[in-house]
Amino acid sequence: MNNILNDFSEIFNWDILNEQSESFQNAKPFRNIFLKGIFKENFYKKLYDSYPKFDESWVVENDWRRAAKRKNLVSETKINGDDWNLEWKKFATYVTSKEFFNNISKFTGINITRHMDTSFLASEKGDFQLPHIDSDGNYENKIQLIFYFSKNWQKGDPGGTFFCENEDEDSIIFEPYDLDNSMVCFEETPHSWHGTRYITKDVRRQAVLVSLT
Ligand SMILES: [Fe+2]
Repeated sequence: MNNILNDFSEIFNWDILNEQSESFQNAKPFRNIFLKGIFKENFYKKLYDSYPKFDESWVVENDWRRAAKRKNLVSETKINGDDWNLEWKKFATYVTSKEFFNNISKFTGINITRHMDTSFLASEKGDFQLPHIDSDGNYENKIQLIFYFSKNWQKGDPGGTFFCENEDEDSIIFEPYDLDNSMVCFEETPHSWHGTRYITKDVRRQAVLVSLT
């Protein structure tokens, strides 16, 4: 089992990331990128088909800043729960691996040495997250990767993580609309404003957030 779990070659199309390394590193006002086709197709399909359904194990976040649903997969180095299928176990193992840190460091130009958190993030009609920065006072070498698992997203529809220039939603500079095997990646800085517009349609935006430092 361990050997199967440690063969990571079927997970990511690293070429796609490496080709866009410069775009990420030169992006303004903070380093960020949107990329399509990150997961190898076969692996993506298996993750997509087994993306967890909403139940009482999810944490519902509901306050003035946001309405959203979250379920932890990996905290630091510990996989949360043991009923994940092979693909999710493999993904969970991979995001805490040296190989993953090295590849992400190469792509971002940021020295990544530690996994902090990987969680499922699901949003439905009525959910949103106001523009915010993920501040705890220490922004050095922190990045977020948000992988999307949502098909048939319509151009212009809210739900993807937008980037903006300040706390005002009018300052949006980018919002993704292809949420089927795609991702956004950004560095955390004191001006890395981002959020999710209020979802008005009866849709479900499925994502996985990986936080590294
Ligand atoms: Fe955030």
